[in-house]
Amino acid sequence: MSAIYLLRKISTKTPSRFHRSLFFSTFSKESKPDSSRTNSIRHLSIQRFFPSSIYRFPQSKILPNRKFSTSVETNSSDKRIHVQSGVILERIHKNEEEETVSKVNVETERVVREESEAEKEAWRILENAVVRYCGSPVGTVAANDPGDKMPLNYDQVFIRDFVPSALAFLLKGEGDIVRNFLLHTLQLQSWEKTVDCYSPGQGLMPASFKVRTVALDENTTEEVLDPDFGESAIGRVAPVDSGLWWIILLRAYGKITGDFSLQERIDVQTGIKLIMNLCLADGFDMFPTLLVTDGSCMIDRRMGIHGHPLEIQSLFYSALRCSREMLSVNDSSKNLVRAINNRLSALSFHIREYYWVDIKKINEIYRYKTEEYSTDATNKFNIYPEQIPPWLMDWIPEQGGYLLGNLQPAHMDFRFFTLGNFWSIVSSLATPKQNEAILNLIEAKWDDIIGNMPLKICYPALEYDDWRIITGSDPKNTPWSYHNSGSWPTLLWQFTLACMKMGRPELAEKALAVAEKRLLADRWPEYYDTRSGKFIGKQSRLYQTWTVAGFLTSKLLLANPEMASLLFWEEDYELLDICACGLRKSDRKKCSRVAAKTQILVR
Ligand code: GLC
Repeated sequence: MSAIYLLRKISTKTPSRFHRSLFFSTFSKESKPDSSRTNSIRHLSIQRFFPSSIYRFPQSKILPNRKFSTSVETNSSDKRIHVQSGVILERIHKNEEEETVSKVNVETERVVREESEAEKEAWRILENAVVRYCGSPVGTVAANDPGDKMPLNYDQVFIRDFVPSALAFLLKGEGDIVRNFLLHTLQLQSWEKTVDCYSPGQGLMPASFKVRTVALDENTTEEVLDPDFGESAIGRVAPVDSGLWWIILLRAYGKITGDFSLQERIDVQTGIKLIMNLCLADGFDMFPTLLVTDGSCMIDRRMGIHGHPLEIQSLFYSALRCSREMLSVNDSSKNLVRAINNRLSALSFHIREYYWVDIKKINEIYRYKTEEYSTDATNKFNIYPEQIPPWLMDWIPEQGGYLLGNLQPAHMDFRFFTLGNFWSIVSSLATPKQNEAILNLIEAKWDDIIGNMPLKICYPALEYDDWRIITGSDPKNTPWSYHNSGSWPTLLWQFTLACMKMGRPELAEKALAVAEKRLLADRWPEYYDTRSGKFIGKQSRLYQTWTVAGFLTSKLLLANPEMASLLFWEEDYELLDICACGLRKSDRKKCSRVAAKTQILVR
């Protein structure tokens, strides 16, 4: 029992002024409490953070299968979306000012589409995967494979896995499950968590949670939420991506439903701040990228991605952009907002300039001089040209390029990581030209990245000594399997979003058609194996929820381009002008970013 964190009630009230002031005096980066006080205050604050919210729910009953409502009414935006069995019929704008626009919108938004057999089955599976807590839907289990005798933690609600489910529900017009999920996980964020008596930062979101029924006495039971912050996870990995996904989903919820009141709530604002403060905390870092351990994201096992992996950086960048949009600016948040702006600008410069590779850049690296000691060295990270892997010399196409998997002193990880590259397109972390070039590379390398099942999680696989040394001889991550270059159909929705943003939906449609041919017959596997994604993965779960939801979300996005456009970001030109270093062109010592900026923009 002691390992279970009891969470009995989700408050719909906002925390009092007392709780807010406690937060600011304890956690705001600007106030920097002295370290001897921090631990005890932190402990106290966790207990006190939502004191009024800790009361017992009336004993919960498991309700029979829910029925989804068929319309969502929102207060703040005067929009209503009518939905009937997965088909968005029409959106009505009630506000008179919007009348002219809405006439046009209604035409473009009226989509009447027959669902395929695969879609119908996918909705059935997704609805069966819904988890209820005290009668309300709060998430979806990771997998619902009836033949699986050892579900491990696949019977839990994973934060990252729920994102495509959430989008599918939102695009269908069902917002409650997403709202509940956001509020329940928000409460878990503020809970005490320890691994061998050591606590991670307070803003950490769990990797997953489970609804458990516990006995109070002989006759009564109650439901509790039992989160896993990494203390039970295989390898004890901290899910750095969870908080970032939570922020991204919070924004998506507001954008799609028009219900912005959720993100305006004080407890929700505080949740955003806690995550941001944790990410922006001062440390030893020399780079604006986030420093994390191996396995801190979708690839949650040892795969040699410790340091500054692209996936985390692109999610971090998106979460920064979302937070800047959602945080209400006042005296207590203005320093945080300033820190967010500075970080956004430094991060995009760093990634665009140093993570980008194409044939020209590889040729530059090939001819790099090393051991350059100066502030204006060309080879800033002292990369030895011998690091360029032989496969890359043959593989890199004339057209196109991509962002590196990781960059550290004297180390470039040249593997292509799919999620990080797609999310860089979606969030505009990369330049418009780089974004186009990434899609050109996918097209040129279709057989390697899409093959018989979209999409490879990374390319190529670690083999032989690399596999032994880098994965620690992981039998699940053998070459061309699972995280080591397996193919994950869930990534389809991210690919679809990236293609739609770049005006190339036909690429996504082609990949979706490849997937649709097999997913239903293969019973929605978690991943596929081999170089071309020909076989269902060795240890792959069937009826994997994010495979199902990724497929549905792709379909819905393609059918509703207007909705899709709410989920991506265009280039922010103002960000390019922000520089916190204070050095100008005329100074004796020039700002290296200003000097390099023209290159970044034209590339
Ligand atoms: C695996 C995946 C992880 C996912 C989890 C649940 O651990 O690596 O990304 O969240 O399964 O599906």
